[in-house]
Amino acid sequence: MILEIKENKKKYLDLLLLADEQEDMVDRYLERGTMYILEEDGPKAVCVVTEEEDGVLEIKNLATHPDHHRKGYGRKIIDFVINTYWGKYDWLQVGTGDSPLTVPFYEKCGFVRSHRVKNFFTDNYDHPIFECGVQLVDMVYLRQPLKG
Ligand SMILES: CC(C)(COP(=O)(O)OP(=O)(O)OC[C@H]1O[C@@H](n2cnc3c(N)ncnc32)[C@H](O)[C@@H]1OP(=O)(O)O)[C@@H](O)C(=O)NCCC(=O)NCCS
Repeated sequence: MILEIKENKKKYLDLLLLADEQEDMVDRYLERGTMYILEEDGPKAVCVVTEEEDGVLEIKNLATHPDHHRKGYGRKIIDFVINTYWGKYDWLQVGTGDSPLTVPFYEKCGFVRSHRVKNFFTDNYDHPIFECGVQLVDMVYLRQPLKG
């Protein structure tokens, strides 16, 4: 079951911080974003989307509880977002670090690389962010159409 969370979004901060480890960065989009939780015997995955310019819906945060990776929850929540917003925007976009933990996942879910924002992580976070031993520097954007 996937539920929209309208109040007390910080109740799920532990899940949100899995995808975005600095709380003040989460604060930049949490209130204006629409938040969904996938519940199956407790919360298993979170997703926050925001409306950006020019017909773009952006995934700002997406995480599956680490005990439940590779069980299809991430794909389920993305499919839900696609179905919910199909025809209402031109593109579904996501920005992520250039990391082997996330880019292959998004590609499996139908996203293709679009552009990058140079030095996003080094310019905006107060500490270096590492994934798989590699420091994240640029934000890589991937997208897929929300119109047929
Ligand atoms: C990225 C993340 C959300 C994936 O969630 P998940 O629930 O484990 O993903 P799913 O089980 O739905 O996987 C969907 C597909 O992607 C594949 N996949 C998932 N992670 C992968 C990885 N690191 N490398 C390659 N493929 C991967 C799965 O094998 C599956 O493919 P299949 O359907 O062909 O079997 C999860 O690893 C996570 O929460 N990571 C930490 C937070 C994070 O970095 N979020 C992204 C911030 S933008």
